[in-house]
Amino acid sequence: MNALADPFDHTSVLCANAALRNSWFAVARSDEVTDAPRQVTLLGTIAVLYRSPNGEIVAAPDRCPHRESPLSPGWMSADGCLVCPYHGWEFGDGGRCTRVPSASEGVPPPPRAHLATFAVAERYGLVWLCVGRPSTGIPVVPHEDDPAFRRLNTPVDTWQVSATRMTDNFLDITHFPFVHTGTFGISQDTRVPHVELEPLDDGWFGYRYEVRARNESFANAASGQTTDIVERKMSSGFTLPLAVRSTIEYQTGLQHILLLLSTPIDDVTSYFTFVVWRNDDHSVPAEEILAFDLAIGAEDKRMLQRVPGVLPLDQTTLVSVQADKCNVEWRRRLIEFMA
Ligand code: FES
Ligand code: CO
Repeated sequence: MNALADPFDHTSVLCANAALRNSWFAVARSDEVTDAPRQVTLLGTIAVLYRSPNGEIVAAPDRCPHRESPLSPGWMSADGCLVCPYHGWEFGDGGRCTRVPSASEGVPPPPRAHLATFAVAERYGLVWLCVGRPSTGIPVVPHEDDPAFRRLNTPVDTWQVSATRMTDNFLDITHFPFVHTGTFGISQDTRVPHVELEPLDDGWFGYRYEVRARNESFANAASGQTTDIVERKMSSGFTLPLAVRSTIEYQTGLQHILLLLSTPIDDVTSYFTFVVWRNDDHSVPAEEILAFDLAIGAEDKRMLQRVPGVLPLDQTTLVSVQADKCNVEWRRRLIEFMA
């Protein structure tokens, strides 16, 4: 594994890695896979997603077994099968070929006409895909099953950034006073407390800290408060390979849990989506709350899209300080994971 490989080859570091190919990544929202097939790309592998007659999502290479037409420009038949746009072969539950229009009555499709499917799952309102053989679980967020919390989903965006740089950014709090001055960052508050790493709950590993956040009017919906500054108790942690969870607790007891998901489309292009769980009273519409987090995400995106290439994954290329301790530990574990 060499992060300094050919800078024009965007498939050599992450895409070729077996451990990443055996991991789950969020590639779409569940509600985006309904009445039409959808193309997604994970680690350089182009896949089609469709919801089959039994209601389950099927994921397969976006290539028809007949003459290799992409299937994603196809459509769903009246009985819920995916129709290839080239010669109309149809695919149903589990990717089974159910119909070859040119065949005589009673002649079944050839056995190799069935789609070779990928592992796919739905959780947290998202579609999770694995293009290898799943060797890890989907990140655990038990707030999903806690009736005190509601879940808010956001769009799946595409960033021209390596997913490794995104995960690194989401674990890092020292960019707040520089990158997030249009939202919650306080430009004077550059010093951060000594970082102590610890296992957090539910398999997450990271650190806890307290931070003051700016709370101008458009932040009020998210914080539930109207003072200029709010105190937040926070934690940031990761589960391998690339998932980050950030928790915020305000003095009012309001909790705001963020699952920040970076999915490698290729080495240097990624999907980004995040999921929020809150123990609020549902009085503020989801869009108002998410507007603030989306604005924060746009600040990270603007910054990160300036930084080319995959994050150097060896331990010596980058210079780190105490405040980067969690990032260094995540990268150390990621190297082991990918080895
Ligand atoms: Fe799909 Fe022929 S290429 S039916
Ligand atoms: Co940020």
